[in-house]
Amino acid sequence: MPGDKSISHRALMLGAIAQGETHISGFLDGEDCLATARALAALGVRIERPAPTLVRVHGAGALRAASGPLDMGNAGTAMRLMMGLLAPQSFDATLIGDASLMRRPMERVAQPLRAMGARIDTDEGRPPVVIHGTPELRGIEYTLPVASAQVKSALLLAGLAARGRTVLKEPAPSRDHTERMLRAFGVQLEQRAGVIALEGGQSLYAAALEVPADFSSAAFFIVAGALAAERPLRLTNIGVNPTRTGLLELLQLMGADIRVLPRAGATGHNAEPVADIEVRGTPLRGITAPEALVPLAIDELPVFFIAAACAHGETLVRGAAELRVKESDRLAAVAAGLAALGVEHRLLPDGLWIRGAPSLAGGTVDSRGDHRIAMAFAVAALRARAPIEILDVANVATSFPGFEECAREAGLGLTRL
Ligand code: S3P
Repeated sequence: MPGDKSISHRALMLGAIAQGETHISGFLDGEDCLATARALAALGVRIERPAPTLVRVHGAGALRAASGPLDMGNAGTAMRLMMGLLAPQSFDATLIGDASLMRRPMERVAQPLRAMGARIDTDEGRPPVVIHGTPELRGIEYTLPVASAQVKSALLLAGLAARGRTVLKEPAPSRDHTERMLRAFGVQLEQRAGVIALEGGQSLYAAALEVPADFSSAAFFIVAGALAAERPLRLTNIGVNPTRTGLLELLQLMGADIRVLPRAGATGHNAEPVADIEVRGTPLRGITAPEALVPLAIDELPVFFIAAACAHGETLVRGAAELRVKESDRLAAVAAGLAALGVEHRLLPDGLWIRGAPSLAGGTVDSRGDHRIAMAFAVAALRARAPIEILDVANVATSFPGFEECAREAGLGLTRL
């Protein structure tokens, strides 16, 4: 499986503002992370890639003004984290993206940054985001209205450069890669139940980072294995940070046969837990998903809905309104795809109800340019009576270059038209 997207973005950004040369292995050579690398290069950071998954970041300590707008492509994480990185600079910057990113909400980051003293303009809440650099930010105490690692991370990045203390309260746990990695770069930060705090003015020192494989990419094969693996399917070296692995619990509640085989110790110096995951096919039964698991499985819900469509009985997911503001409106995109495949379902404001079926019809599914919708419906083909044609799949390369080859190797019959 390819390297973790969330961790790869962060490794580049922290490396860029650290002193010294940061070495990254297992980097995700995907379009989203390349957008981050290009933006940082435009800001004066020297980045070398001796191999597609090996990166050396020559920490500049400081960034310098770019000559034009920074194009973050399809990458929401890149845009939101860059807002936190750029807000305290001494120059202005403009962030833009592709059609999907230009529709996504940015005020959730801009508002608390403004409370820190940042000057940021959005276009009615959406990009372009214009950041008027303000080196004199001040730390704030802020309660996040939704569990969002992107918002949290942007505020931590800004807080690093601010005067005083930044204290963030989370309504529910979100992925904590930034916190773990900041420690690896020598930053002191406090973490207790639902609260993260750091003092501004700390320096970062270069680190050697091993990026584990992306659990969110593995998720497609975990579900594929749960639906159809006659022999155990083993996925190796997968990041199993507990803020990411809600899908395993959801599938286990459905009766899936999944084994997590921890690998010794944490990888590198960034203390991310890593394991091999082994899965074999078993009949699944529908569940009511515990809402507490939803934020821990947020990116995996599209493919979880496919598991639900193939399970015996009904599945209900609520508390997932965030899916409406991802790369696409993922609730609507999945509902439309399920309709095309003849699966009985109900679209709710914050979730989906699905009645599973022993087999699915074939049909045409519009991925809406969303990588995870495209890959989820590729997995659905394992249970379809006729081919599923998936439209607009180029963005699979944002997170999972090589998906087609991997899928074929695992036994999915996939052809690119
Ligand atoms: C991410 C955080 C999540 C997730 C996204 C990656 C990150 O978004 O959906 O794919 O790397 O911080 P939110 O912060 O909007 O929940």
